[in-house]
Amino acid sequence: MEVNVLSTEPESGVPGDEFKEKFKKNHDITFYRRQRDKAVSQYFASLETLLLTDRGASLELCERDSQNRLSLQIRATQNGTVRVSIDELQPVKQRYHVSDVLVGEMRYEPLRVHWKREDCVCLTWGLGQYQVLVSFLPFKLEISCDGEEIVTLNPENKLYFETLQGPTRSSSNSCQGDENQCGLWKETFRQFEDIKANGPSSVGMDLSLHGFNHTYGLPEHADTLVLKDTSVSEAYRLYNLDVFGYDINSRLGLYGSVPVLIAHKPERTAGVFWLNASETLVDVKYNSEPNENEDEPPGKKSKIAPQTDVRWISESGTIDCFILLGPTAAQVFSQYAQLTGYQALPPLFSLGYHQCRWNYEDEADVKAVDAGFDSHSIPYDVIWLDIEHTNGKRYFTWDSKLFPNPAELQRHLQKKNRKLVVISDPHIKIDPDWSFYCEAKDGGHFVKNREGAVYEGTCWPGESNYLDFSSSKTRSWYARQFSLSKYEGSTESLFVWNDMNEPSVFNGPEQTMPKDAVHFGGWEHRELHNSYGFYQHMATFEGLLTRSGGTERPFILSRSFFAGSQRLGAIWTGDNVATWEYLKISIPMLLSLSLTGIQFCGADVGGFVQDPDPELLVRWYQAGALQPFFRGHSAKVTKRREPWLFGVEVTSAIRSAVQDRYCLLPYWYTLFHQAHVSALPPIRPLWVEFPSDSSTFAVENQYMIGSALLVCPVTDPGVTEVRVLLPGSDELWYDTNTAEVHKSARTLDLPVTLNTVPVFQRGGTVVPRRAGCGSSTADLQQHPITLTVALDTKGNADGVVYLDDGHSFSYRDQKQFCLRRFSMRVGRLVSSCADDKGSFVSDDKVESVVILGLNSLKRKPKLKSGAARTPVMFEFDVKRGVLTLTGLGLEIHKDWEIII
Ligand code: NOJ
Repeated sequence: MEVNVLSTEPESGVPGDEFKEKFKKNHDITFYRRQRDKAVSQYFASLETLLLTDRGASLELCERDSQNRLSLQIRATQNGTVRVSIDELQPVKQRYHVSDVLVGEMRYEPLRVHWKREDCVCLTWGLGQYQVLVSFLPFKLEISCDGEEIVTLNPENKLYFETLQGPTRSSSNSCQGDENQCGLWKETFRQFEDIKANGPSSVGMDLSLHGFNHTYGLPEHADTLVLKDTSVSEAYRLYNLDVFGYDINSRLGLYGSVPVLIAHKPERTAGVFWLNASETLVDVKYNSEPNENEDEPPGKKSKIAPQTDVRWISESGTIDCFILLGPTAAQVFSQYAQLTGYQALPPLFSLGYHQCRWNYEDEADVKAVDAGFDSHSIPYDVIWLDIEHTNGKRYFTWDSKLFPNPAELQRHLQKKNRKLVVISDPHIKIDPDWSFYCEAKDGGHFVKNREGAVYEGTCWPGESNYLDFSSSKTRSWYARQFSLSKYEGSTESLFVWNDMNEPSVFNGPEQTMPKDAVHFGGWEHRELHNSYGFYQHMATFEGLLTRSGGTERPFILSRSFFAGSQRLGAIWTGDNVATWEYLKISIPMLLSLSLTGIQFCGADVGGFVQDPDPELLVRWYQAGALQPFFRGHSAKVTKRREPWLFGVEVTSAIRSAVQDRYCLLPYWYTLFHQAHVSALPPIRPLWVEFPSDSSTFAVENQYMIGSALLVCPVTDPGVTEVRVLLPGSDELWYDTNTAEVHKSARTLDLPVTLNTVPVFQRGGTVVPRRAGCGSSTADLQQHPITLTVALDTKGNADGVVYLDDGHSFSYRDQKQFCLRRFSMRVGRLVSSCADDKGSFVSDDKVESVVILGLNSLKRKPKLKSGAARTPVMFEFDVKRGVLTLTGLGLEIHKDWEIII
C-alpha cells in the first residue's frame, strides 16, 4: 500500500507565506553574523616566509591578536587568471577542498620579484604586464595591469578565518555572547538543530574592484541582472534550496549556485570565482550608483572614482579565489571555462522544443499529445514524464498500469525521431523489498546522519534515503543503473531529468538536508551542500555516456547546479509562476546564468505554478523560443495547456514561434559550438557585445542571441508597442519581420500585435536558417539552408555555420564537423572553410541568400566557380533594399562565390 506523504511543497495555487518562513534571512545565519560582527583584526604577511617556485608564490599570514597562522598561495596563469588560496597553516584537521569542479591540471607561470620594499613586494610573471603587489602590514594584495589597479584583496582587513579547534576547544574570540546564539558548535533554526562536529569554520574576505560600478552573476536569484547594492538589503545568498514559487526581487538562494561575479566597465571586464561549495553570502557595495558616473557630462564627472566592494563569506572550507582579468568579456568567459570546463555541446534534438507536464497520465495520453503536435503542425522533439510514471516514486521503475510498455512507447516516438525524458531524483524510497534500494544500502551508497546511521528524510516517496553522489564509487554505481540491461523499459532514446537535487528534503531545515549529515570521507554536508546536485548531474552524465559506450552525447536536465555544471547538460529555473513578472524575470535570470558559464538554460514556458491566460502563454512561447533551453512545463493540478487548447489564434501564434525557433536552429547550434570551444554564451547581455556603450549596462529586457540577433520579447500584457534600445554607435539594425533598417544609438517604438516577436539583425552579420522545419529536428536536414546577409554601413557582413551529425562525439573524436565562413566584401559573398581540420561532408545545400541593406543593384548577380560565371535567379526589392537570390543549390561544404 502507498504511504501518502503530506508534502510541505504545495502542488498548486499561490505559494503562501508559510512556505517563505521556512527559509533563513541573513540575520538567522550565524556564521554570517559572526563574520560581520567581528572587530577588524589585521593579518600581516611575513616576508621572510616568501617562497617562489615554478608554480607561484607562497607566504605565511599571521593574525596580529591571535597569532593564528594561515598559508597563502598566489598563482598565475598565462591567460590572465590569478589564483589566491588561503588555508590554515597547520589545521588541527584538514579543511574541505572542493574537488571535481576544476578541470585538468592547471598550468601556472613562475612568478618573479619585480621590485621589493620593506613593506611590500611586487610580483610579476610572463611579459610583466600584470603585477601583484603584496603589502605586509596590514596584508593586502593589489592586482594591476600596466600600473592600473584592477582588484585589491583584503582592502578593509575583512579577511577572517575561524580556525578549526581540537577536542579541547577554546572559546572563540569572535563570539562575545552565548555560544548557542553565535552558533559555534550548535545552533537551532526553527525546530532544527545543527550540531557542528568541527565547530566554527567560516572564512571570509573582502575585495575592491577599481573603476567598476556594474557587477553581474552570482546565480541563482530571481533578481535584476545588475547586482544590487546589499548595504541596505539582504546579501546574495548562495545556498541551494527548493523554493516553490520563489519570490521575485529576492537574494534568497534558489536551486543552484555559481560563485562567480563579473564586473564590467567600458575598458575592461573582470571576474571573481570563489571556489567554495558551502553556504556562501556575498555583499556588494557600490561607492557610486550604477550608471551614475557615465551619464554625467564630462565636466561634471563625480570626483569619487567608481569602485565596487565585494565581501565573500562562506560557512566552511578554504579561500580559493580566482581573479579573471579579462580584459574583454570574451576573455573572462574563456578564463573561467579553462578552469571549470566549457558548455557541453548539446545533441541537436535538445535544442528543439520539449513538452513536459506533471504528469502525462499514461501511454495513451503521451501518444495523443505527440499526435497533437503533428496534427497542429507544431514541431517538437521531446516529451517528458514526471514522477507519476514510476511505481510509487521508485525511480528506474514504471507504473505498470499506466506505462505497461515503456520501450514500445519510446519506439513509437523514436519512429518520428522523438525522444522521451524521464525524471530521476536523488531520494530513494526506503523499501527493503526493492532490489535497487537494497543494492544501494548494501553498497554503502547513502548519506549518513551525524550518528553514523543512514540518513532518512521525506520526499515524494515518503521516507527516503539519499544517494551520496559525492563519492565516485556511488556515482559509478548510479551510472551503471542507466545501462539498457539494468534499466528495464529504457531504450537509447530515453534521456534524463534530475530534479529535487538541492537536495530537497520535505522535513529538513529549509527543506533541505541537515548540514550535519555525513558524506563519504566523513565530510559534513555543510562542506559540499552546493555541489550535491552537480554531483548527481555528473553521475547521470556518466550513466548516459557509458550506456552508449562513450559515443553519444548525453542530455540531462538538472534543477540544482554548481560551477562546472555546464559540462554536464542543461538546467532550468525551477518552480516559477504563471504571471507576467515571472516571464519578465526569466530574462535576467537566464542572462546571469549564461554569464557564469551555465549556458544551456531555460525557464518553464507558461509558468509552472498556476494557469497562464492565453496571451501570457503566447508571449511565453515567443520568449522561450528565444532562450537556450525551450520547454513547456506545468504543475500537477494546473489545467492542461497543450498549445492547441486555446483557439486557433493562440495555436497559430505558438506554432509560428516554435517554427521560427526550428528554422533558426543552424544558428543556435553554431552558437552552442562556439560556447563549447570558446565559452561565448549563446545568449548575452547587450553590454557583452557593446562593452563601451554604457546605455546597455543595465538592460535586462533585451539581449543578444550570438552577436547577430538582438531580441526584445514582449513581457507585458495588452501592449501595442514596445520600446527597443538599438545599441552601438555606427550600427544598422534590421527588423527581421519587415527588413526595415534602423540606425543605432536610439530607442525605437515598435508597434506590435500578438504575433510580433521583436528581433533585429545587426548589420555586418550573416545568419543561417533552415528554409522550413518539419516536425522535429531530424526533419531539418530536408530543408535547405538560407543565409540572411545584413550589410553594415560599409556594405560588409560576416558569419559562420557549424554542422555535424548532431548527436555523437565523432565531431570530437574523428573531426567529423564542418565549419564554414561567409564573408561579404565589396559586392562579393564568399563561402570558405573556417576550420580545415573538419572532415564532415554534409548533404546540406544553401538554396537562397537574402541580402539586406542593398541600396542599388549594379549588375545581375552571378555565381562564380573557377573562371565561369553563371547567372542566378534573383529578385530585388529596391524600396526595401532587399536582394533575394534563389535556386542556388550550393553544397554547404564547398567553396563558392557570389558576385553582385
Ligand atoms: C519540482 C520540479 O521543480 C517540478 O518541475 C516537477 O514537476 C516537480 N518537482 C515534480 O517532480
